[in-house]
Amino acid sequence: MRRLEAPSNIWITGAGSGIGEAVSRALLKQGHRLVLTGRRSEPLEAIQSVSRDRVIVAPADTTDRQQIETIAPQLESHGDLNMVILNSGTCEYLDVRDYNSDVIANNLRTNVIGTARCLDIALPALRRTRAKGQPATLVIVSSSAWWFPFGRAEGYGASKAALSYFAHSLRADLAAEGIDVVVVSPGFVKTPLTDRNDFPMPFLVTAEEAARRITKGLAAGKHEIAFPKRFTWTLRLLGALPRSIIDRMSAAMARQSDN
Ligand SMILES: NC(=O)c1ccc[n+]([C@@H]2O[C@H](COP(=O)([O-])OP(=O)(O)OC[C@H]3O[C@@H](n4cnc5c(N)ncnc54)[C@H](OP(=O)(O)O)[C@@H]3O)[C@@H](O)[C@H]2O)c1
Repeated sequence: MRRLEAPSNIWITGAGSGIGEAVSRALLKQGHRLVLTGRRSEPLEAIQSVSRDRVIVAPADTTDRQQIETIAPQLESHGDLNMVILNSGTCEYLDVRDYNSDVIANNLRTNVIGTARCLDIALPALRRTRAKGQPATLVIVSSSAWWFPFGRAEGYGASKAALSYFAHSLRADLAAEGIDVVVVSPGFVKTPLTDRNDFPMPFLVTAEEAARRITKGLAAGKHEIAFPKRFTWTLRLLGALPRSIIDRMSAAMARQSDN
């Protein structure tokens, strides 16, 4: 059976705003049953009010091992868990003139450690689903930002590079068990996270468009979902240039954003 073809049970983190909220609302419209996680309950409850019988609210800080373990029983409240979308994340930029290693630590803690902790409870549930011969999919929301060395993105880019590696390595290890690992690599998406940005964001798309691209890619059985193409192809082409040219370009861009 194709992914998302039948009503599925899905756990999604970072569901209260931005991409996670838009994906949750799109999946609800398609008839799926959801377990929603984020630190704040109110935005999750607002989504739950759309369909009380198909949405469970399971607030937790994904970086906190104990909080994650507390919500483990809720993941299978609707039945076997078919899909997990690990989307919660943050983006903190570094001001190199006022270097602070906390910026690097915060990005890594939320984006890498938080995602890794979710697997403590997601993997056993997905394995139980596979043991019954049902498909099981793990989706990790990374970013395309790390494909080019953008100034101020030392912490964010490093965290998403690590997260993508983590996901690809997991894909190799979980292949034998038949658990699919999907990596989502968005460009700029208009959300509360990017509303804070004070620089131009080329090819910015809405959260609803991002949700459409993600749900369409998942339903089509894709393992890599990157969008918008204008942005991701530009980054791919830039990334193929010799390192000395990339270094000159990224230094010039960093100087420009400083002015
Ligand atoms: N927007 C973009 O341009 C863009 C581009 C590429 C990738 N992404 C990635 O897409 C994902 C979603 O980002 P977004 O743009 O939609 O931002 P957002 O609106 O800020 O969403 C992030 C969500 O994560 C939750 N969250 C943050 N830290 C958490 C924690 N420790 N535990 C549990 N939940 C936590 C937040 O809810 P609470 O505060 O209630 O916990 C929030 O709802 C992130 O991984 C981001 O890196 C975004």
